[in-house]
Amino acid sequence: MQSKTILITGATSGIGLALAKKCVALGNQVIITGRNQTKLDQVASQLGVKAYLADSADLAQLVLLGEALQQDGIVLDGVVLNAGVFYPSSFVETTAANFDETIGINTKGPFFTLQALLPSLAQPASVVFISSIVVTKGFAGCSTYAASKAAFEATIRVLNIELADRGIRINSIRPGITATDIQAKAGMTKEQEMALFESLKATPVGRELNADDHLGAALYLLDDASLALRNAVIEVDGGYTL
Ligand SMILES: NC(=O)c1ccc[n+]([C@@H]2O[C@H](COP(=O)([O-])OP(=O)(O)OC[C@H]3O[C@@H](n4cnc5c(N)ncnc54)[C@H](OP(=O)(O)O)[C@@H]3O)[C@@H](O)[C@H]2O)c1
Repeated sequence: MQSKTILITGATSGIGLALAKKCVALGNQVIITGRNQTKLDQVASQLGVKAYLADSADLAQLVLLGEALQQDGIVLDGVVLNAGVFYPSSFVETTAANFDETIGINTKGPFFTLQALLPSLAQPASVVFISSIVVTKGFAGCSTYAASKAAFEATIRVLNIELADRGIRINSIRPGITATDIQAKAGMTKEQEMALFESLKATPVGRELNADDHLGAALYLLDDASLALRNAVIEVDGGYTL
C-alpha cells in the first residue's frame, strides 16, 4: 500500500504509532492525532507527519479536527480508529464516572471522530476500528472495556449500510494481548506484566504479541485489496481465543 492518505487516531504510542511508522515507510501520507500535545509534537517531528490534537473524549476537539482537515484540504483514503484506553475494574467497584470515561473514549470517541471526518473522506475510503478480543472472550475486570468495544462494533454494522453510498467501508481488528504502554497505563507493575506475558507462552503463537503483529491486518484493510469487505473482523490474537 502506497500513496494513500491515512489518518490514525491515538498514534503517540503502541499499535497506532507502529502503524504510522509503517505507513510512512511504505510511502503514504500519514496524519496522526493524540490527546497529549507534547507526545504528539515528538512523534510528528520524528516521523515527519502532520499532527492534530484531538482528545477522543472531547467532542469540541473532534469537531475542530474535522474543520481543520477541511481547511487544510486533506482528503483521506483511510482512517484508523485506534485511540483507546483500558482501565480494568471489577463490576462491583466500577463507578458511573469510570464507566463514562471508558465509554466516552472507546465508544463515543470513534463514533464522533468518524462523524467529524466524513466530509474529508475520499470515495472509496476504508475505516478500520481497533477493537479487542474482549468482545467475545470474558476477562474479569473488563466489563466496561468489553462493553465499549462491543458497542462500537455493533455501530459499525449499521454504518456500513448508512455510509455505503459514500463508498465507505468499515472493518475491525481484534488484537489479543499485545505488549504496549497500555499495560502500565492499566496500573500493572512490571512483575505483573512479565507474569502475563509468561502465561502467553501457552498460546499457539507461543509469546505475547507486539504492535508490529497487527500491521499486516491493518494494511490489508486499508488497501484496495479489501475493497469488497464490510464489517469483517480480523482476530489477531496468536490463537489465544481458540
Ligand atoms: N495492547 C493490547 O493488549 C490491546 C488489546 C486489544 C485491543 N487493544 C486496543 O488497541 C488500541 C491501541 O492500544 P495500544 O495497546 O497501542 O495502547 P497505547 O500504547 O496506550 O496506545 C493508545 C493510544 O491511544 C491514545 N489515546 C488514549 N486515550 C485517548 C483519547 N482520549 N484521545 C486521543 N487519544 C487517546 C493514547 O494516547 P496517550 O499516550 O496520551 O495515552 C495512545 O496514543 C486501543 O484501542 C486498545 O483498546 C489493545
